[in-house]
Amino acid sequence: MSVAAATAGSLGAGTAPAAAASAGTSGKSAGKPGGKPAATAARGLRYSSVAPNTADAVTVPDGYAQNVVIRWGEPILRGAPAFDPEKQTAAAQAGQFGYNNDFLALLPLPGECDRQLLVANHEYTDEVLMFRGYDPANPTRQQVEVAWAAHGLGVVVVEEDRRTGKLTAVPRHHLNRRVTATTEFRLTGPAAGSALLKTSADPTGTKVLGTLNNCSGGTTPWGTTLHGEENFNQYFAHGGRATDKRYGIGTGATERKWERFDERFDVAREPNEVHRFGYVVELDPYDPASTPRKHTALGRFKHEAATVRLTDDGRPVVYSGDDERFDYFYKFVGSKRMKKGSGRAVREHNLSLLDEGTLYVARLTGDSPAIEIDGTGKLPADGEFDGSGEWIPLATATAKGAVSHVEGMSAEEVFVFTRLAGDKAGATKMDRPEDIQPSPVTGKVYVALTNNTNRGVGANAKADEANPRNANKHGHILELTERRGRPESTSFAWSLFLVAGDPDDPATYFAGFPKDDVSPISCPDNVAFDPHGNLWISTDGSQLGSHDGLFGVATRGSRRGELKQFLTVPTGAETCGPVIQDRRVLVAVQHPGEVDGATVDRPASTWPDGPGKIVRPAVVAVWRKDGRDIGV
Ligand code: FEO
Ligand code: CA
Ligand code: CA
Repeated sequence: MSVAAATAGSLGAGTAPAAAASAGTSGKSAGKPGGKPAATAARGLRYSSVAPNTADAVTVPDGYAQNVVIRWGEPILRGAPAFDPEKQTAAAQAGQFGYNNDFLALLPLPGECDRQLLVANHEYTDEVLMFRGYDPANPTRQQVEVAWAAHGLGVVVVEEDRRTGKLTAVPRHHLNRRVTATTEFRLTGPAAGSALLKTSADPTGTKVLGTLNNCSGGTTPWGTTLHGEENFNQYFAHGGRATDKRYGIGTGATERKWERFDERFDVAREPNEVHRFGYVVELDPYDPASTPRKHTALGRFKHEAATVRLTDDGRPVVYSGDDERFDYFYKFVGSKRMKKGSGRAVREHNLSLLDEGTLYVARLTGDSPAIEIDGTGKLPADGEFDGSGEWIPLATATAKGAVSHVEGMSAEEVFVFTRLAGDKAGATKMDRPEDIQPSPVTGKVYVALTNNTNRGVGANAKADEANPRNANKHGHILELTERRGRPESTSFAWSLFLVAGDPDDPATYFAGFPKDDVSPISCPDNVAFDPHGNLWISTDGSQLGSHDGLFGVATRGSRRGELKQFLTVPTGAETCGPVIQDRRVLVAVQHPGEVDGATVDRPASTWPDGPGKIVRPAVVAVWRKDGRDIGV
């Protein structure tokens, strides 16, 4: 047995009691593995569910096929060399696909037959899995610079095989682009140019080098992409202020030691640089020469994602979660209307839409007596975890200036220290708000809450109706209905759509659907809709002994709540970036092989290229072998 197999095997033995490669935990349903693709399932979800498993592979339903679209290190820009893990340089990496793909967008390419534009986030680097012999105490400048180049965003044209859903990358296309930790960005919106954002390298407070920890994102109706800067705190050393503490910026050295190679990562030396990360970034992927932007009007926190819809009169509404235990979720309502068309002036106008408007934070109130929320997940007497909510305004940005709605904080402070504004506003502490998606069919909004094992522990906030389980290790999904269906409303109704876990666990809830007919799920993270209006959920950190996966669930009709697993990912990986098209499912396999103690020489995974090859994060396309649409 190879070291790799031993590592993966012991992982399986230690954590996966129910995760043999074939059997589910309760096994009797049509939705369970081996069952027929039930014709009764909601349209779009008629596939036979994949069993929970710990295979070092992407496992898809019977009758489906897959291919790796692009891997970490594949050259995408002209002049970039072929990937050689033993000869990595920053210059090479800056022309190659980055590490740890997370959010994915597939955008149309007018005039390009059978081609689309793939945009990917490269959230972070796993140096021990990238560099043979990596010494975490003494990274070399070369390793650090490769890591800078492996972060950021990737744009690559992909070509589809007409007969299948297979996608392949088109290297050297003129639209291909890499954005890295050293690419120039423009800070825009109400806090741009403020004293809080000025540094010795940028006395204007408007120019930043790079984007970091881009987790999930969104596509805008005006043809750009948004990318959430999430755990930016981990790159900054020697923080000490109360604001640093609230954002999790440590007082010591960082794990990657970047501060040794660029003092902007040392808060003690360059106190404001850290204020220039933690934003929603906007990229115009159709213009490779454009300067991407960081939008201060959407606030600064650990943005998981940013998803956009329009009001009836064409103004943007953006939802974004702050992925931290006991943190909040937010909404921005723009005041400017989107213009239609593709001319330069129209594009420039639309790129300013997220600079003016009001930023809100959510406060939720349950409708059942508090005594009925006992922290176990037991439904209250009215049969639902539900209630009402309000969007509390934090600050408003206009062309003439910005106004704070939070006592004791200036508008600039609200936009830069948004978590503190949420604290003062009395926002509801949630169980890690991650991705948020409005349904294109019903307009209802779905908020993934990954987990919160600290809920109800010690002095921490106890279970409430919106976060009804103490020590919540499996997470839940909240369904939010804006008042009168209007995205810009300042109040809403909500209920829990899904309380995740093993369906045999009485603390789970699948929108009232019979629980012997659903797949087990744990730690919902990213969410997306298919063309039929079904919600697709990818997971991060499943606590059920299975690898992470992708699931589809009906949100309407008699099958509402019927959750079915579509795929699983390799050892140590998280499922990210799902894009569900008629004939194709696209996922980002992020951090495969990320298992404690694993290194290049002792890998926990050898996906996607097999034994003897370095593990590589990659994008995977899945389609039906018979060429028909997904799940019909
Ligand atoms: Fe990057 Fe919250 O996941
Ligand atoms: Ca209730
Ligand atoms: Ca995520």
